[in-house]
Amino acid sequence: MADTTKTATLTIDGQNYELPMHSPTAGPDVIDIRKLYAQAGVFTYDPGFTSTASTDSTITFIDGGKGELLHRGYPIDQLAAKSHYLEVCYLLLYGELPTAAKLEDFEARVTNHTMLHEQMMNFFRGFRRDAHPMAIMVGVVGAMSAFYHDSTDINDPWQREVASIRLIAKMPTIAAMAYKYHIGQPFVYPRNNLDYASNFLNMCFSVPAEDYQPSPILARAMDRIFTLHADHEQNASTSTVRLASSSGANPFACIAAGIACLWGPAHGGANQACLEMLREIGTVDRIPEFIARAKDKDDPFRLMGFGHRVYKNFDPRATVMKESADEVLDLLGVENNPVLQVAKELEKAALADPYFAEKKLFPNVDFYSGIILEAMGFPTSMFTPIFALSRTVGWISQWKEQLSDPQLKIGRPRQLYLGSTPRDYIDIENR
Ligand code: CMC
Repeated sequence: MADTTKTATLTIDGQNYELPMHSPTAGPDVIDIRKLYAQAGVFTYDPGFTSTASTDSTITFIDGGKGELLHRGYPIDQLAAKSHYLEVCYLLLYGELPTAAKLEDFEARVTNHTMLHEQMMNFFRGFRRDAHPMAIMVGVVGAMSAFYHDSTDINDPWQREVASIRLIAKMPTIAAMAYKYHIGQPFVYPRNNLDYASNFLNMCFSVPAEDYQPSPILARAMDRIFTLHADHEQNASTSTVRLASSSGANPFACIAAGIACLWGPAHGGANQACLEMLREIGTVDRIPEFIARAKDKDDPFRLMGFGHRVYKNFDPRATVMKESADEVLDLLGVENNPVLQVAKELEKAALADPYFAEKKLFPNVDFYSGIILEAMGFPTSMFTPIFALSRTVGWISQWKEQLSDPQLKIGRPRQLYLGSTPRDYIDIENR
């Protein structure tokens, strides 16, 4: 950890405590409070972690004010324009862009692991047909630890590597099978002559009865969605993966925990919630009513797909995603899709409204990814599974980084207790 000569002084009841500070390669300095409780007998209080760095990391950097997102130092817009998902996976996992030979080897390794253990099909079949695909994913990914015993030993670097490749390779197969099961169609096996994104489209949209040729424009848009969701530093699901892993849990259990956290509408579930909101708005003439509700303090309604905890200027992923959305909508047309018409008009209306400008609320990545996925023909219930499969590499990279930290400790936050002080048990007849 990079040290500085700076310290912070904390005064409690006239007593001074010197706290060391650390300077990052980018971003604000941090005050190191690890010894604070031992020295001063106090905790810090930061629910929601708004001012707390939970770890050091070399993977991803976000400057929310500037609207900057870097993976291993490379800006996301350059990666989205010039790279592709599997190359970004390599970069996140191993820290550097691969040579052509290393990329070829990595892609071959991922491709060799795309199939699922055949017995896992029975596991899918145990779910109700109307199960949400995220519920199936949490269960199936957690169950991988029961199918791949040879990659659950976190102390063996080789097993950690195999688990990482397996998760990246199998997640599209799991997401696509969750979808096929949900709609009552036969599972489509992976095809290793297709690229990562085309293979996923094929597993979702092809049926045995007909030929299916994934469109290169749609495959590119799919790959961009994967790339733009690949990692996002210490967000809620990544922090969940790290917390689960801090106890020594196996990788499949940790990633299942991340998927569960991602499901919530304030996180990865926002893309589904956003499309449901667009459907509820229904027609362009109702947009002012919903904008008024979003601004009303007494109404819990929020414009889904707008705002971000870290980005207070713009979400750089949304800028790229918007271009992709425009390309896909040009290809597929929006004229006959009222949801997409509402999306286009809502974006315009919110951006022109001073409330959203003053609070720095802009469309985030989920707003545009939802639009693209809707146009491609995915049901809303598949939006968050697609986010989960894209984010798997980020979770895995952060998990690997955490396990290589010699100072790794189990995560164990403390609390500000506001409950009863000790009191005597009252027998039931006296209550
Ligand atoms: N619509 C209307 N008002 C909003 C919205 C919104 N979408 N988002 C924030 N605000 C208002 C909020 O009411 C508050 O107003 P005031 O200062 O008057 O109380 C102010 O803006 C700040 O909001 P906050 O809740 O303190 O901000 P936060 O950083 O805690 O929340 C957020 C960030 C993303 C949870 C929130 O903006 C939100 O709920 N957005 C909708 C859900 C969404 O799109 N989530 C996806 C996030 S991007 C993908 C990901 O990282 O998972």
